[in-house]
Parts: sequence; structure tokens; C-alpha cells
Amino acid sequence: MVEQTEITEDEAALYDRQIRLWGLDAQRRLRAARVLLIGVRGLGAEVAKNIVLAGVKSLTLLDHTNVTEEDACSNFLVARTDVGKNRAECSRDRTQLLNPMVDVTADPQDVDNKPDDFYKNFDVICALCCKPTQLYKINTICSENKIKFYCGDVMGYYGYMFSDLGFHEYAEEVQRKVTASTSSQGDGEPATKKAKTDEMETVTVKNSAQFTRFKDAMTVDWKSSDNVKKVKRTPSAYFIMKVLLQFMENEGRRPAVSSVSEDKKLLSTLKSEVLEQIGVNSDLIDDEFTSKCFAELSPVCAIVGGVLGQEIIKAVSHKDAPHNNFFFYNGVEGSGLVDKIGS
Ligand SMILES: *[C@@H]1O[C@H](CO)[C@@H](O)[C@H](O)[C@H]1NC(C)=O
Repeated sequence: MVEQTEITEDEAALYDRQIRLWGLDAQRRLRAARVLLIGVRGLGAEVAKNIVLAGVKSLTLLDHTNVTEEDACSNFLVARTDVGKNRAECSRDRTQLLNPMVDVTADPQDVDNKPDDFYKNFDVICALCCKPTQLYKINTICSENKIKFYCGDVMGYYGYMFSDLGFHEYAEEVQRKVTASTSSQGDGEPATKKAKTDEMETVTVKNSAQFTRFKDAMTVDWKSSDNVKKVKRTPSAYFIMKVLLQFMENEGRRPAVSSVSEDKKLLSTLKSEVLEQIGVNSDLIDDEFTSKCFAELSPVCAIVGGVLGQEIIKAVSHKDAPHNNFFFYNGVEGSGLVDKIGS
């Protein structure tokens, strides 16, 4: 549970526009939230920017890898002169400059060396650029400790975000019809002749949503009779991301520009294996994706990072219905889709 504290005058001045947009209560909850961001590449930079500008309490950037030439194209938090230095540490200063009131720290350790207790220091964990087994582990810790879990990635034209908020309660504004009789004051008409009109009013209602774990969403049995029909309606980016995540699991790295031809072949073989294993016809996705999943395209990072940032703000402030549970962006088709998979 996020502890609430009062907003100072400086904060009220800085966040004035946001407070008018989402209310003082939401801002109070935001400024109490401690966020861990794992993986500070292009997508991570977008998420960091969005939530630091919104005014969370603290943001910890965790990444043990070094800045590469490729980062210069997508991670706007690092400088070209930072190549070869730790990614989290190099991203810290520019993140801090975005908002002096947020406590921004860098942690250059490897996520695999972190003890389970480490994660309990946070209210929200956003794990990017991780392998499925790492995500399953962190998701389980979050689930057991009521920490809001997000994950996501961008590879070339493709991106996804997933959230597991456990059992999540939120307030949302809905339009409700009110039937009011317009009174025609004192004109002597009998009551039966008064016109009835439908007017809309905005009311705030409480609602809730139950989420699924990432592992359950990634290990759906598509052969089961319930799911066979769903295959065609499921965004192709789900299956593409599944292949790309499996690539990371097997190879211990992302598809790389420096090994394009080798990786294209690996991905094509892996596609058939992965789809066969989950009981989906391998024609479902075209091999085109094997040449469109290299480097992090900054427009894709901006879109997926924008959605992730917005989702974190919604969840922490308990305002508005969250996306449950995936958002997929497919830059080849130019489509962004929300889908609930695995429950
Ligand atoms: C990052 O660079 C430093 C210094 O060049 C090196 O010691 C370290 O092993 C590198 N880290 C990784 C994860 O490659």
C-alpha cells in the first residue's frame, strides 16, 4: 500500500496543471510511489521521462549493461560520449534534470544478482529488456508482495507491454443517463404534458479488475477448444513477441544488428518451433518479422513507453480502468491493440 503524504507548496506549483487534470488525491498517491525501472534502453528512457515528469516519489534505474552505439539512436538520456559506460549511471543525471523533486538513483548491478528482498522496497516494478524466466520470477515476487508489476520491450517495429496489478480497485468517471422532467414553471400546463428529456451526468463509480500472471499469459494452450477460435483474433504481435522473447531466453541476448543474417535464420527456425509447441499453425505469422525486429526504433519506444507511463500513473493513482493485460504495437501494420490473454 502506498503511503500518502501531503503535497508541499512547491509541488503544488510544479504539478498545478496535472493536479487540475487528475486531482489532488491522485497527485498525492503518485508522489508516494517508489518505482523500480529495470532496463534503461530506448523504451526505459521513455518510461523514466513520463513517470518522473508526473512526479513519483523515487525512481531507481537498474541496469548492469553498458551504453552502446545503438543507444545513441534511442536512449535520449545518454550522451554519445557515454559509449562503454554503465547504462543506468549514464541515464541518471538527465532523468534527474527532468524533475528535481523526484529522488532518482542508478543501480549498476545485474538483476540476476538481486535478492528477493530487494524488490520489496518498491510499490511499482517495471521490468524491460528481460528474459521470460526473469520476468516470471519478478512477477511472482510482486504478486506475493502486492507490488504492481509491469513488463515490456521494443524490438524493431514491434513492442509490447503487460501488467499484473493483482486485484486492482479504481475509480472511474462514467456517463449516466438521468431522466429529468423539465419543469415549465408556472405556465399552468398540467403535469402530464411536461416534456421528459434524457440528460447525461458524470458520476464517479468504484470498480475493480483481476489480473493474471505473465507466465499464465505466455503459456496459454492454444490447442484447447476454448482457445482455438481465439488464435485468429489474437494480435499477431503476441506471437511475434513470444518468438522474440524465446530468442532472448535461448541466446542470452537480443537480436543484434551486428549479426543480422545469423539472427534472421535463428528467428525463422525458432518461429516454427515456438508455434508448433503452442499448437499454432506456423503460417499464422509471416517470416517478414525476422528482418524487422532489429534495434529499438524510437517512435515505437515513444508509443509503448507512452502507454506504459500512462498505465503506471493510472494504477498508482487508482484512477480509470487499466489495460488488462497486454498492449501490443505492430509498426509494420501500424496497429496498437489491447488484449486480455491467459485467463
Ligand atoms: C562495461 O564496461 C566496463 C569498463 O569498460 C567493463 O569492466 C564491464 O565488464 C562492462 N560491463 C558489461 C556488462 O559488459
